Amino acid sequence: MNLQTLPKTDLKVSPLCLGTMTFGTPVAETDAIQLTHWALDHGVNFLDTANMYEGYSRYLGSPGGVSEEILGKALKGKREQVVLATKVGMKIGPGDGDQGLSRTHVLREIDRSLFRLQCDYVDLYYMHKPDPATPLAESIQAFNEIIDAGKARHWAISNFSAEQITNLLKICDENGWRRPVALQPAYSLLKRDIEAEILPLCQREQIAVLPYQVLQGGLLTNKYQRGQAAPGDSRQVEKPEWTMPLNDEMFDRLEKIQTDATKLGRTLLQHALKGLLDQPGIISLVIGVKRIPQLENLITALQ
Ligand SMILES: NC(=O)c1ccc[n+]([C@@H]2O[C@H](COP(=O)([O-])OP(=O)(O)OC[C@H]3O[C@@H](n4cnc5c(N)ncnc54)[C@H](OP(=O)(O)O)[C@@H]3O)[C@@H](O)[C@H]2O)c1
Repeated sequence: MNLQTLPKTDLKVSPLCLGTMTFGTPVAETDAIQLTHWALDHGVNFLDTANMYEGYSRYLGSPGGVSEEILGKALKGKREQVVLATKVGMKIGPGDGDQGLSRTHVLREIDRSLFRLQCDYVDLYYMHKPDPATPLAESIQAFNEIIDAGKARHWAISNFSAEQITNLLKICDENGWRRPVALQPAYSLLKRDIEAEILPLCQREQIAVLPYQVLQGGLLTNKYQRGQAAPGDSRQVEKPEWTMPLNDEMFDRLEKIQTDATKLGRTLLQHALKGLLDQPGIISLVIGVKRIPQLENLITALQ
């Protein structure tokens, strides 16, 4: 796969980034390690995790850590081959200090993530979501401290609005602090709200956009058909709360997207991926897969 450089960094990443939110369940450890190795052998050099990820067992405030632990095992002897990203900020315990972007929490969590990942640094460290309880300047300074300490090479943000990004950049510039190099927003052909403000803003500011849920949990893979039961091993059956509802209105929307795809000579899956990568500023898509043939499918769709 052709690698692209994230603006203002020397990180070169593949157009697909392997998301590992489902490592643990339904992707058991051995399969997850095999999948990661297969991805690396087939040109996917970009891996995305978070301190909270533990697959479908996740509940609000559960401790997380499972995905990072599995990746730590998978990356033994391979760390230098990959661009590795993790995140902090979601609730991972019962206490007030077990969430958010306070300096104390962030400095504690980077050490825990590195321990689980069995490495000295990550390439990208994300604010997983804004934290209204912590002054933004405190969080930004803590992320800069982590880079100064060599524990992350760059920092990034996820799930921030255009207004929040603008405010954050202003604080960075006023204080001479490093800016985030990337944004990870939810974005798919079924959820296009970032196109209005966030995409142009990131392009102007040279912030790489690395969208997640680009397949909308599998809805854009053509695996669901109107009038037919969803496949038993699909997310619609196994974890419906992690996808949009599949009803007549959704099938109407999917058929419309399919029509657009056909006009461009693309399958639905190709359009779901290429339609996003065609947008300026989008460098890589954070995708989820449950098994190797699904990833093979996505790589083939991009060729
Ligand atoms: N920053 C954030 O707040 C945030 C939030 C969510 C996710 N993420 C990141 O984004 C990644 C992807 O998220 P996601 O898994 O929810 O979204 P997704 O990529 O839209 O959906 C992935 C699911 O689609 C199905 N699928 C994938 N390839 C397929 C294929 N070729 N054929 C048929 N089905 C296929 C699989 O589900 P089934 O086979 O089970 O149907 C797979 O688990 C996560 O792992 C995580 O790294 C970030």
